[in-house]
Amino acid sequence: MRIFRSLIPILLLSGSFLMTGCQNSPSSMSPEAVEARIDSMLSEMTLEEKIDMIHASSSFTSGGVERLGIPELVMSDGPHGVRHEHGRDWVKDEGVADSSTYLPVGTALASTWNEDLGYQFGSVLGREAAFRGKDIILGPGLNIIRSPLNGRNFEYLTEDPFLNARMVVGYVRGVQDQGVAANAKHYIANTLEYDREYVDVQVSERALREIYLPGFKAAVQEGGVHTVMAAYNKVNGVYSAHHQYLLDDVLKGEYGFEGAVISDWNAVKSTMGAVQAGLDIEMGSDLPMLATGNVDYSKFFMGDTLLTLVGDGSVEESLIDEKVRRILRVMHRIHKFDERPPGAYNTAEHQAVARAIADEAIVLLKNEDTLPLQQSEVTSLAVVGANATRKHAGAGGSSQVKAFYEITPLEGLQNLLGSNVDISFSPGYEIEREGGPDQALIQDAAEAVSGADAAIFVGGWIHGYSDDWNDNAYDAEVLDKPDMNLPFGQDELIKAVLEANPNTVIVLVGGGPVDMRAWQHDAKSIVQAWYAGMEGGNALADILFGNVNPSGKLPMTFPERLEDSGAHALASYPDENLVIDKTDDIYVGYRYFDSFNIEPAFAFGHGLSYTTFDFSDLRVEKQDDEVTVQVTVMNTGSMEGAEVIQIYVEDKEASVARPTKELKAFEKVFLAPGESSTVTIVLEESAFSFFDENAMSWVAEPGVFSIHAGSSSRDIRQTANVEW
Ligand code: BGC
Repeated sequence: MRIFRSLIPILLLSGSFLMTGCQNSPSSMSPEAVEARIDSMLSEMTLEEKIDMIHASSSFTSGGVERLGIPELVMSDGPHGVRHEHGRDWVKDEGVADSSTYLPVGTALASTWNEDLGYQFGSVLGREAAFRGKDIILGPGLNIIRSPLNGRNFEYLTEDPFLNARMVVGYVRGVQDQGVAANAKHYIANTLEYDREYVDVQVSERALREIYLPGFKAAVQEGGVHTVMAAYNKVNGVYSAHHQYLLDDVLKGEYGFEGAVISDWNAVKSTMGAVQAGLDIEMGSDLPMLATGNVDYSKFFMGDTLLTLVGDGSVEESLIDEKVRRILRVMHRIHKFDERPPGAYNTAEHQAVARAIADEAIVLLKNEDTLPLQQSEVTSLAVVGANATRKHAGAGGSSQVKAFYEITPLEGLQNLLGSNVDISFSPGYEIEREGGPDQALIQDAAEAVSGADAAIFVGGWIHGYSDDWNDNAYDAEVLDKPDMNLPFGQDELIKAVLEANPNTVIVLVGGGPVDMRAWQHDAKSIVQAWYAGMEGGNALADILFGNVNPSGKLPMTFPERLEDSGAHALASYPDENLVIDKTDDIYVGYRYFDSFNIEPAFAFGHGLSYTTFDFSDLRVEKQDDEVTVQVTVMNTGSMEGAEVIQIYVEDKEASVARPTKELKAFEKVFLAPGESSTVTIVLEESAFSFFDENAMSWVAEPGVFSIHAGSSSRDIRQTANVEW
């Protein structure tokens, strides 16, 4: 078996990344010198010029001041690849070289539980953005995965705030070390797409602090992110882009964010709301103007109206100066006034990173001795299911990527097996909105699998029917899924192929779970393949045939039924007044399943391997304000593999209701057969704390805490207690 591929690109890329030598600070100027220079630039600018800088100047640029040599800021989506060009006015530029490296999507990245891969992911994005002349890449997407229905879950990372925070830091640093700004989005609590521009998310301060904010806090304080995107939705009655408390007090005040807040596209709803709240750049307000055929950037909320309001004294000019200062600060940090490293585009190294992430992202959910398939024993292979030949990069909404290439699952299998194996393909279902089971296609598929040495079904969700981004049903921006049921009659197809060949491997593509009850117990092996990027098909083939040992772990709970998830059991979908009452509060994901004793289909953190790992010798020791945790893990099987040691903390007795356990640390270890490793993890006070809404601060109450070391949130191998 091949060694884990993640090591290869690290070696390949580290040299070139280091050579760029481009850290967050752009030039040799000290922060004080930069601020002094900004003072002098501001003093030379007219009010009109300042106002031009705080709103869009085209679909993806904000204004510059040519007279003073201040360029426009150029932005591009999105979280997992640099998007195609739009031209200045949303008209797709044809004939330009704008295909790019298509990385695995957010949920796939998070499934690696590998922070180094987060950095490599960001580095590829940053280098490609730099090469394409982009200043800001509009990612990472940090919204918490709360409901399986959210159409955009695939762009986000996880249901867990700790995993979110850990994965985002590498991503942001990776992008920004290339001299390009990352953008932490969508701030905040944008967990459904349904009427996203108008919904009012009612959420407690505690849930904001414990669940929704930690990813953003880490992006700011540990990643040093240069920009944040204010979401569409209201939070507790106030639009996110007008939210003085969340933008000024929390983000800029408490967290010390020094960069610029950009609105989501068309998220600003009033001049006074935005100007007073700490929003720095208004984007996308041209979208409603497009329909009228009359786009005028001075008509943005923070355009001419603001000029009048400053003129008549209703708005202080210092408020505008502060926004411009932040924009200029970002510009200094991303080399707008000196030389940015040139970046690179569609290189073999970038493709190797896409492959390495896909290798570690694919999750083996279930395996009753069917996987890995043995190449020596397979002369005929039946591949079934329309996702085996479907490409996904070009759809899904603003995250769409014009992939340089995209290897489908069928192509990956053909690449691996060559002409030695007779590979047949039957689609099994048609991708049609109202399409139910197609009996003729089902019969073809059942016949194909019954006569083959091995059979693989590849189905699941899709982004849309075409690459038109308004046609993105299911895993899609602007839309949520109608339910968790597999579309296009796939349940019936799976049942038929499992009956015809009980060893058929079930592979599910998509951004999240499906209801598997119709066939889960009959399937011997189930694989979650996500949207695994341009190399996804090759990675999948390697996993299925054992050239790569799976090590992905679910970054979200897979419920058996939709009603089992906390967002649906405890809270409701937006009501007719467009209010989303987050009465599930802090009980998001496994925090709900564990605390309310609901059995999931597959637990948060779950993911099997072709080898086995033994946990032993858990030791916990408190000294001063830290608890040191040590645990030994041994590869007890016969294949090299990786295990993620997950540390959960349980407060045995608290003055407030707390989730049964919460992830507070993890480490991925790579072990040869028979090899063991002792991992040492330090838990600080934050690992024991909850957010006290009365005191408005974090509190670690004295008492006994259990420290659980597990292979998933439901597969706890060792527990020890410690007195805090
Ligand atoms: C999305 C953002 C995206 C922006 C620009 C909005 O519709 O919510 O995530 O960055 O469009 O394409």
